[in-house]
This record gives sequence, C-alpha cells and structure tokens, in this order.
Amino acid sequence: MKNIAILCSGGDVSGMNPAIKHFVEYSIEKGLQPYFVYDGFEGLIDNNIVSASYKDVSGIITRGGTKIGSARSKRFLEASYRQIAKDNLDKHGIDKLVVLGGDGSFRGMAKFYEEHGIAFAGIPSTIDNDIVGTDYCLGVDTALNIIREALDAVRDTASSFKRAFVVETMGRDCGYLALVSGLTSGAELTLIPEVSYNLHDYEAKFKKELSEGRRYFLAVISEGIKESAEEVAAWFEDVIGIESRATVLGHIQRGGNPTSRDRLMAYRFINFGIDGLLAGKNDKVSCYSASQFNYKSIGDVANTQHVIEPALMKLAESCLTC
Ligand code: F6P
Repeated sequence: MKNIAILCSGGDVSGMNPAIKHFVEYSIEKGLQPYFVYDGFEGLIDNNIVSASYKDVSGIITRGGTKIGSARSKRFLEASYRQIAKDNLDKHGIDKLVVLGGDGSFRGMAKFYEEHGIAFAGIPSTIDNDIVGTDYCLGVDTALNIIREALDAVRDTASSFKRAFVVETMGRDCGYLALVSGLTSGAELTLIPEVSYNLHDYEAKFKKELSEGRRYFLAVISEGIKESAEEVAAWFEDVIGIESRATVLGHIQRGGNPTSRDRLMAYRFINFGIDGLLAGKNDKVSCYSASQFNYKSIGDVANTQHVIEPALMKLAESCLTC
C-alpha cells in the first residue's frame, strides 16, 4: 500500500508541527499519499483520518503545539477498540503510521503491530527527555529555552527585591529539564527526583551567604520531588530567613515557537522514520544517540528504567549537592 498516516499521542511538544509539515513533504517525495489522524489514537478509533496535502501544512513550521491534535487514549488499551482502529485504517488503505509520542504510545503501537500488522515508526517526542535509547526527544530544546527565559526574568526580579525564588519545572518523574536549567542558569539550589537531598544540609551555607550580603537565591526544582515549590519557598522564609516566592512554570513549557534545533530535528527524525518504514523496519523507534540516528526495538526503549546521562550528572554534581 502507498498510504501513510501520522498521529501525535500524549503531551504535545513544540516540534510536532514542523514534523507534520515535513511528513507531508517527504511522504509525497517518496511517492506515498500522506494522511492525518486527528487527536491521537482517539482519531484512529473514531475514524478521524483525512488525506493531507502541501496546503494543509503551509505556515505551521513556526507554531508550537500540533495542528492535528493529541490525546492520551484509554480506549486504545482495549483490544476491541484496536480492532476498530485497524478497520478504519483499512477503509483508507493505510498500513503505515508515523507516531509522535512517548514510550507508552510506542508500547501501544507495538501491540497494534503484533495484532494487526500495522507498521509504525516511533518518533520520541516529549519535553521530559525520558525515553530510554535516545539522547534527544523532540521538543526538549524549545522547552529548555522557554524555561531559560523564565529563569532569567525571575532572576532580575529576585535580585531587585532581595528574595528567594523557587521555580518548578515539568518533567514528570525525570529531572532532566530542571537539571539542565538549574545548571545553565546558575541556580543556587537544584532539586531533582533522581538525587536524594535534605534541605537541612543547605541551611548553614545559605544562612552564612545571606549574612555575608547575598541578595537573593534562585532555586530550580523538578516536579516529582518530595516537596512542592510552595513548601521549598516556605523553607526559605522560615528557616533561611529571606522573603520568598514560588513559581510553577506549568504548561507554558510545552508551548512556544519551536527553536531551530527542534525544527531541524523534526525534519531529521521524519526522514529517518519514513526511510525505516520503506526499508521494512516495521516496529522501530527512531532514536538519536551519540550524534547518530539509529532504529531501536520497543523492548530497548520501553522496558528499561530511564536514567539521566551519567556525564551530565557528573557535570552538574556541584549544583546537585551541598
Ligand atoms: O509528559 C509531558 C508532561 O508535560 C509532563 O512533564 C507533565 O508531568 C505532564 O505531561 C502533564 O500532563 P497534562 O498535560 O496531562 O497535565
């Protein structure tokens, strides 16, 4: 069959729209008819599947989010709905899918391939950067830049007012965003779920710095640690003795115009994924490690616990310990 579809699953990232644009362009270049599946696996089940052409993707390269929508589908976990999804794909003559998502989505696709033979190319897309086997996930660079801008701005006001600011990043259980952001913004305190800590250990050091004239503190914490941003801010006020504020960056980290890096990576991931499908790699995730693209099986990416690259942990050692 000559028909190929793309869908987005799970949390959207900036980089999905450039990937969708290039999916259309590269599919046509390869003699394939591109289709969009709207709203992730939900769209497969509801037959929200539409053929696409160049005009559908004009002007989207600069935009965050995803033109075709995304969703976290509970129904796709059930075999009966996967059967409906397969029937819908058959109606459109589609037997290949490009899936922008995380490891949960790829696990779902691997099952779908096993049951119904629909080939897929998984493109790691999550700001959390927590997919085993790939150093880079689409959207991470844009999220890091959004966080950097926010931290630079917060630092300005923190220094003006003599305050501690505690800024919480996303990442679910993975501290990558907070780690890189804490390191590259010169934060005084960085807390991530992967490294155990005790706030008490920082007490003497921070109090001394304050008594010696330090005007402010910037703390970057990851969601997934044991305290909330409010609790860490309260600790600064009550224990260290400096007025403090908490900022939870939240979903703004998932939006914004994709950076050049995310646009370029979107193009490269799409080419690699489609080339793999055309070469008979029917159930592979396109990964980027040690500056090379490679295909990994679902077992390699979905069944292992993710760890942050040891060299990065080492580099950040001093900002993660007291
Ligand atoms: O996985 C991406 C992510 O943004 C996480 O960092 C965060 O914990 C979660 O999704 C938020 O999910 P939702 O958009 O459903 O609130």
